[in-house]
Amino acid sequence: MGKRSSVIRCSATPSSPPASLNLEGSQPKDPPVASWLGLGFLINGSDFTRKAVQKHGHIWKANVLGAAIYGLAGDTGLRAFYDENNVKRFPGMSTNLEQAAWVLKDDSGDAHYAIPPLDGVNWQPQEGPITDGKMNWKQRKAQFMAGIDTRDAVETYISALDAGISDTIAKLAASDSEFALWDTINSLVLGGLSKAFFGYGIADYELGEAAMISNIQTGYTVFDDKLGGASQKQKDAFKANVRYLREALAQYRARPHKYPWAGLGRYLAAAEKLKMPDEDILMDMHQMICVGAYGGVTSAAGCMAYSLAKNPEVRAMVKSEIGANLGTETPTFASLKQLPYTFAVLKECLRRWPIVHIVRGFSIQDIVVEGKKIPKDATVIAALHGTMHDPTVYKDPEKFDPLRFMPPRNEGADEVWTGYQVVFGAGESSSQHACAGKNTAMLMLFVLLVRLAQNWQWELVSPWEHLVTNHFSPDPSNRLRMRRCR
Ligand code: HEM
Repeated sequence: MGKRSSVIRCSATPSSPPASLNLEGSQPKDPPVASWLGLGFLINGSDFTRKAVQKHGHIWKANVLGAAIYGLAGDTGLRAFYDENNVKRFPGMSTNLEQAAWVLKDDSGDAHYAIPPLDGVNWQPQEGPITDGKMNWKQRKAQFMAGIDTRDAVETYISALDAGISDTIAKLAASDSEFALWDTINSLVLGGLSKAFFGYGIADYELGEAAMISNIQTGYTVFDDKLGGASQKQKDAFKANVRYLREALAQYRARPHKYPWAGLGRYLAAAEKLKMPDEDILMDMHQMICVGAYGGVTSAAGCMAYSLAKNPEVRAMVKSEIGANLGTETPTFASLKQLPYTFAVLKECLRRWPIVHIVRGFSIQDIVVEGKKIPKDATVIAALHGTMHDPTVYKDPEKFDPLRFMPPRNEGADEVWTGYQVVFGAGESSSQHACAGKNTAMLMLFVLLVRLAQNWQWELVSPWEHLVTNHFSPDPSNRLRMRRCR
């Protein structure tokens, strides 16, 4: 690769206001300072980036307890962040994956790495064909996605996903009429996902549904210093998760013909071609089940259930659209087009409650975006929450308003840099770091939304209850209880 100039100028897009164009010869400015102390960022990061974008625009700086952080948002900001020439991720993995690697290392003696290696040291990009069985992160990610996230793959397990969700709804419907929102959503998502992915629902599994959910909840808690900073209960729960995945893998392998449509079969076919060790496979399974589905889909689904409980008129419109177009049938990919309002509700839930509010990296060159300079070696964040509440794209961004995604408004509807899908990280999944499980997650949420609407009406037990937002994401808690109603 030839030597590059030390300043990268991001070409301004037509959507940038004229005042922010990078005119040749004009001097880049320091970004406006959104905060000198950064306490707001530490207390409630989502809120902070939303206000920063609304007040200062797409590029700003925050001093957080003395350390400078540069925020990038909107079309030009996110394009600059996701350009590999500008920004690199910190080497290594998310804390949660590191914990899983640690547990697996205890068992096998070797360190193992999941998708994604996040540009980490063990999966350095490699030019040319794969000769030693090691792939660069893009190749390995493509493999992972071929297993679980292509349209074709998802079609094979959609009915299992639906069966898992429907079984769980039926079981809940037969018992009480008042539910803890968070536990209910956990059961539904894990019930659907484990059936779709492993071939059987968690309720069938010997560990038992309640134990599985409580293990994942306890073991998922992010703790410091590998397993050193965790309580014994967290360590045990974390190990139980990994043990569960290992047993699920053995059970699937013992009877693959029984679950020919399950996602795991397709994923294993891809992994076996590469002769991946079981520990690497388990890390990927951990990413899919515990991080993606538990950490991602359950939070998003919890926010979705909350939004619908809060907005009975939206719930009624969803129900009536489904009644008129789908009746009681199983939703499929085609239903996304048949049910435009329901799809718009899903998009609005993801936009209003983005469960990953920022992504972090560091600048590897000086960057100039919208005339503002970000120095080399700075901590930079992609402000996902702020982007999805940008008033230049979304009218009244704080309002829960699904019609914004329907004609004639179509606010940022399918934009990969500013639309609702920025909740999965911006840009392309195949060539950049955006979520590898985007389609799977969207489909799970959609099937869940349709099945809940077909089978249930629900409302919050206490109407003044709200989502708990913290520095990480909006969190539906068990304090939120829902009541079934007709
Ligand atoms: C609503 C659910 C989900 C949300 C909101 C979500 C969001 C995200 C976000 C924001 C990222 C980081 C993007 C970046 O680094 O720029 C990410 C990465 C990732 N997600 Fe998801 N995710 C969800 C579900 C899932 C599921 C179900 C899976 C697996 C089946 C999954 C697998 C991954 C993987 C492998 C990556 C790393 C991609 C990479 O670094 O190249 N996610 N996700």
